Amino acid sequence: VHLVNAQTPEPVFNYDEAKVGTYTLPDPLIDAKGKPVKTRADWANRRKELIQLFAENVYGQTPKQAVKLRFQTTAVDSSALNGLAIRKQVSIFFIDYPKLPSIDVLIYLPKNNRASAAFLGLNFCGNHCVTTDATIPLSTRWMANTGEATITNQATGKARGMQARRWPVETIVKRGYALVTAYYGDIEPDHPKGWQGHIRSVLGDTTQPDNWGAIGAWAWGMSRILDYLQTEPKIDTKRIMSIGHSRIGKAALWAGAQDERFAAVISNESGEGGAALSRRWYGETVERINTSFPHWFCVRYKTYNKHVVDLPIDQHELLALIAPRPLYVASASDDQWSDPKGEFLGAMHTEPVYKLYGKTALGTTTFPTVNQPVGQTVRYHDRTGKHDVTDYDWEQYLRFADELVR
Ligand code: GCU
Repeated sequence: VHLVNAQTPEPVFNYDEAKVGTYTLPDPLIDAKGKPVKTRADWANRRKELIQLFAENVYGQTPKQAVKLRFQTTAVDSSALNGLAIRKQVSIFFIDYPKLPSIDVLIYLPKNNRASAAFLGLNFCGNHCVTTDATIPLSTRWMANTGEATITNQATGKARGMQARRWPVETIVKRGYALVTAYYGDIEPDHPKGWQGHIRSVLGDTTQPDNWGAIGAWAWGMSRILDYLQTEPKIDTKRIMSIGHSRIGKAALWAGAQDERFAAVISNESGEGGAALSRRWYGETVERINTSFPHWFCVRYKTYNKHVVDLPIDQHELLALIAPRPLYVASASDDQWSDPKGEFLGAMHTEPVYKLYGKTALGTTTFPTVNQPVGQTVRYHDRTGKHDVTDYDWEQYLRFADELVR
């Protein structure tokens, strides 16, 4: 629904497992000099090297400089969701860059006496679309046109609650978790010129082939929201999970890979450039994603369009960067564009890295039947249905959080 550039899948895309071809994946436990990674200390170095390789070749460099933030609470409702939750709205401003728009964060907190674990995920269409709550201001930021809900790139009243189904706030809060969200377009509107007037116009170096892309910016924004959450006494800062669907799932993975303050990561159908192996010729390809969405990745990523085998990394190594923290990778069987099998294999090939920590990752090499979650510290499911976030998905994420993010 939120495609900025319409997908025109040509030439023919492969959906035939027999035609995927053979490939050799880079080994996460062999470093760039060819030395084996044997200990956790070796992995700590290899981790840095891998982040650097993803920055140089895929997502671009995340600027390292600390940015001064100002947090402003704009509204608090201590009896939201019929008294179930505290709802807080907080804007994050950039002190040195007053012209940049704020990141407007919407938070639902359970009414607990203790600090709660939290799911932190960006949304596609403004905080007003996550819930039908009419007191949440309609975002005035640029939005992709979606019929009546967005006209001339502005949200209309029809957008309220449009994606509420994807955010079962009440269930989340009842289970004792906080939900933290913000519109991804607050950080960077999702179109090729969206960087103008946003964070990538003041940080980074646009002349460089590894200057950061929009996914890098969204991931960076998630870390800035995490900065705010460090100051929120009702949140248990050691139990904040990064979660995201699709393009925002790619960002959630890159955020969790770089920022170890995220206690766990959940990738919902992140597909190409997310959890799916790039070397598999199946569904979306590196060339296609770079063509449809030129602003998502760094310029150098495009040099691999026809030479995916030359990438010094593959996406299982992005997933391995989450180790030893819990990771959930989810697919949908009618979403073959995201390559469910490729996402499963991405998760599966993290196993040796988790093993360094004495942990079992997926613990299986068999692609599960639909609606059969598998795995231990790394979990996977391929649910029936289309590209979406459903109650089924959330049910699994809540159980995963209950069991592993304690
Ligand atoms: C397109 C794109 C995917 C992306 C998806 C989404 O389908 O090709 O890479 O994940 O949009 O964000 O919904």
